[in-house]
Amino acid sequence: MVPNPPSAPSDAQLDQVKEAVRALLHQPDYDDGSAGPILVRLAWHSAGTYCATTNTGGSNGAGMRYEQEGGDPANAGLQHARAFLEPIKKRFPWITYADLWTLAATVAIKEMGGPEVTWSGGRTDFTDESKIPPRGRLPDAAQGADHLRFIFYRMGFNDQEIVALSGAHNLGRCHSENSGFEGKWVNQPTRFSNQYFKLLLVNDWKKKKLDNGLEQFVYVDEEVELEDNEEPEELMMLPTDISLLSDPKFKIWVERYAEDKDLFFDHFSRVFAKLLELGIRRDASGKVVNDENTEGGYRSAPKKSDVAQAPQDHGPGQIGHEARSLQKENENFQQRKMGAKL
Ligand code: HEM
Repeated sequence: MVPNPPSAPSDAQLDQVKEAVRALLHQPDYDDGSAGPILVRLAWHSAGTYCATTNTGGSNGAGMRYEQEGGDPANAGLQHARAFLEPIKKRFPWITYADLWTLAATVAIKEMGGPEVTWSGGRTDFTDESKIPPRGRLPDAAQGADHLRFIFYRMGFNDQEIVALSGAHNLGRCHSENSGFEGKWVNQPTRFSNQYFKLLLVNDWKKKKLDNGLEQFVYVDEEVELEDNEEPEELMMLPTDISLLSDPKFKIWVERYAEDKDLFFDHFSRVFAKLLELGIRRDASGKVVNDENTEGGYRSAPKKSDVAQAPQDHGPGQIGHEARSLQKENENFQQRKMGAKL
């Protein structure tokens, strides 16, 4: 039994967790075959609630375990990511959810071919909802450049950092059941690269109105090599992605990242590390000194139950075990990809 460390896990402990994350990334029955993209999104949404003026929100606390944050429509779908990590929490109960969610994203980025992201541990888990920020702090993809600035300046990012962070849309896809948008940004959505910026610049993106009334931008790449009978898959961009092109200050960085992959990797690794530290205060030795940490230490929340709705693992307002419903959803997704209308 590993003793609960006073303020953060040791390197040796973390190595075991990282290895376990690597081992779970390959998920042949899920989406494009990898848990990586959604783990990156989990970490981003856990941190992206930060407000620099009021010093609230951020990656401490793992507030998405609670309905108030986890049930925010902006977080729809992230139960998949949290459920993927539950077996790791079971094996290593000493790690806080807040550390596990952020660390897992750095492992996923590296494994998908991206840069090394510096990560420091020590985040604690909230024991109630009192410090959970209000809903509505995450970006709305239907909007444009002003909205991006409003949201990301609040967190303390500048224009260059907004564009670099947006490069994460090289990974994964949109799901109509989560956000209402549909499709992937690049042809290889489990491979980290600067392809998103290249495609953003060179393709002729056409506006498309979806059945649910939302508008996104689409392009069909006829050049991609296909198996017999395979239809070329439409690629997509969100209105916020397209706003990086129409805003001249953003566009400069789209162009630079499209032509210089190393520059993008360097900037992305720095800005993602900064994102994961939002809301975390450390002393000179690196120890987290947020009130909840100095009062409660490195306090990992108990693992959630493997039995749906088990009352004993719920704090007030806490979301129950999430894995069960996913199996059917994933099966449906795979069938839809094969052309079934579900
Ligand atoms: C710039 C503002 C942003 C907006 C408006 C936005 C919006 C969205 C939307 C609507 C989705 C689709 C969710 C779904 O339907 O499942 C998505 C997916 C994703 N986002 Fe963002 N996002 C933004 C920034 C970021 C940032 C900063 C990161 C990370 C650094 C990120 C990483 C991802 C990833 C990896 C996915 C794919 C998830 C999956 O495959 O399930 N996004 N985003």
